[in-house]
Amino acid sequence: KHVAILLGGWSAEREVSLASGKACCKALEEQGYKVTPIDVQPDIATVLQAVNPDVVFNALHGRVGEDGTIQGLLEILRIPYTHSGVLASALAMQKDRAKVVMAAAGVPVPKGIVVNRSDAAKSHVLPAPYVIKPVNEGSSVGVIIVREDRSHPPQELLRDDWAFGEKVLVESYVAGRELTCAVMGDRALGVIDIRPATGVFYDYDAKYAKGGSIHVLPAEIKPNIYQKVQELALTAHQALGCRGISRADLRYDDTPGGTGELVVLEVNTQPGMTETSLVPELAAHAGFTFGELVQWMVEDATC
Ligand code: DAL
Ligand code: MG
Repeated sequence: KHVAILLGGWSAEREVSLASGKACCKALEEQGYKVTPIDVQPDIATVLQAVNPDVVFNALHGRVGEDGTIQGLLEILRIPYTHSGVLASALAMQKDRAKVVMAAAGVPVPKGIVVNRSDAAKSHVLPAPYVIKPVNEGSSVGVIIVREDRSHPPQELLRDDWAFGEKVLVESYVAGRELTCAVMGDRALGVIDIRPATGVFYDYDAKYAKGGSIHVLPAEIKPNIYQKVQELALTAHQALGCRGISRADLRYDDTPGGTGELVVLEVNTQPGMTETSLVPELAAHAGFTFGELVQWMVEDATC
C-alpha cells in the first residue's frame, strides 16, 4: 500500500506535527509500506491528486488538520484517511460545543462559558481559580490559569498579536491530577497520570521539553476510578462520533478535602504521535508496538 503522510501545515502546532509525522513515517516504512511525506500547504489538493496514495495517514495537529477541513477535502478526493471524519473532527476541536455533546451523553465536563477576550475577567464570569483557553487550539497553546479574582483580563489576552480568536473559553479550574486515556476503535487502552516536572500544569513546555513531565502508567488511582476514566473516554469518543484513535484529557480532584470531581476537558482527535507521546505509550501498555499501532491505523482508514 502507498501511504501519504500529511504533516506540518500552518497551525500553532506545526512543530509538533512535524515530529509526529516523522515518527509515523519511519514506523510505516519499517512495516513495509511505501510512504510519501507531504508538508501540507494550500496547494494540498493538487499535490494529493498527483501523489495518488491508497491511504492518507493524517499526522496534522490543530487548525485545518484536526478541525474537519482536511477531512472534508479527503472525502471529496475519495481517499481513505486515518482518525475521525469531518463532523467529529470539527466538533471535538470546538471545545465548548464538544462539551455540550459530551454532557448530553452523561460525561462530566467542567463548568464554563464563552466570552469575548476583553470580558474574560468580568466578575460575573466565574470565581477564581479559573482557566482561560482558546476555543479551538491544542497543546495548551494560549492557556492561562487565573488563581485570584481580578478586575482586568490577563495582559497576554489583550495583546494585539493574540492569535487565537476574539472568543475565549473560561472554565472553572479543577485541582488535582491530570489524567489521559487513549481509545483505539472500541476499546480504552489505559490511563496515564501526568505530572509536570515543574510549573503547575501540563503546558506546552511540560508536553514537549525533554524531562518536562513524568508519566505514571498505569495511573496510581483507585481501580474503580481507573475503570471510570476508561468508560468516560470511550463514551466521549462515541458521543462525538470519533473513529480510530482518540485521546481524552481529564482532571481528577483527589486533593485532601477536595471534591473528588472527575471531568473530561476534551477529546483530541489527532493526538500526538511521536514515539514518546502518550498514545503510543498507552498502546504499548496494551500490547501494541508503535509499528503495530500505526499499521492498525492505516488498515482502519476509511472515507
Ligand atoms: N494537541 C496535541 C498534539 C495532543 O493532543 O497530543
Ligand atoms: Mg487538545
